[in-house]
Amino acid sequence: MKRDLAESYSSLLDQAAGLFDGERDPWANSANVAALISDGLPDLNWTGFYFMRGRALVIGPFQGRVACVRIPLGEGVCGKAAERRQTVIVPDVHAFPGHIACDAASNSEIVVPLISRDRLIGVLDLDSPSYGRFDAADAAGLEALGARLVAACDWRLAGIDGFEAG
Ligand code: SME
Repeated sequence: MKRDLAESYSSLLDQAAGLFDGERDPWANSANVAALISDGLPDLNWTGFYFMRGRALVIGPFQGRVACVRIPLGEGVCGKAAERRQTVIVPDVHAFPGHIACDAASNSEIVVPLISRDRLIGVLDLDSPSYGRFDAADAAGLEALGARLVAACDWRLAGIDGFEAG
């Protein structure tokens, strides 16, 4: 099982590398990463990105049901992961104080911050209908994928504070 998971993430990394080849656009690449994860990993009901706009996270490319658009830094699982700049795994979202419920089907969640040269770009957020769906192997795999995405894009094109265009 653990080996299967490692193989899934290794395959996702390979596919992402192929998609990023010759493409530096943040929206194009993050949209494809959301689709890759959503297609490639089991038992998910929402996969997507929130990107920093001033002091709030604003929804980016995703796969799943419509979700809340703005999350202030420090609020919800996404805002906490962004503020701490650490991956947050929540085995039961109903027991997480301040959890922001977007899809009633979600029961567990993992949020991985995206950081480039000490600057917070946003977060990658996955929700599952199963309790306890995410573990340390998911954190490691998603952090690797997030780091690959961060390195593959020109964030000056994304309008994020600290990544000025020009
Ligand atoms: N549950 C998240 C909000 C985003 S949705 O899950 C898509 C949170 O508490 O930050």
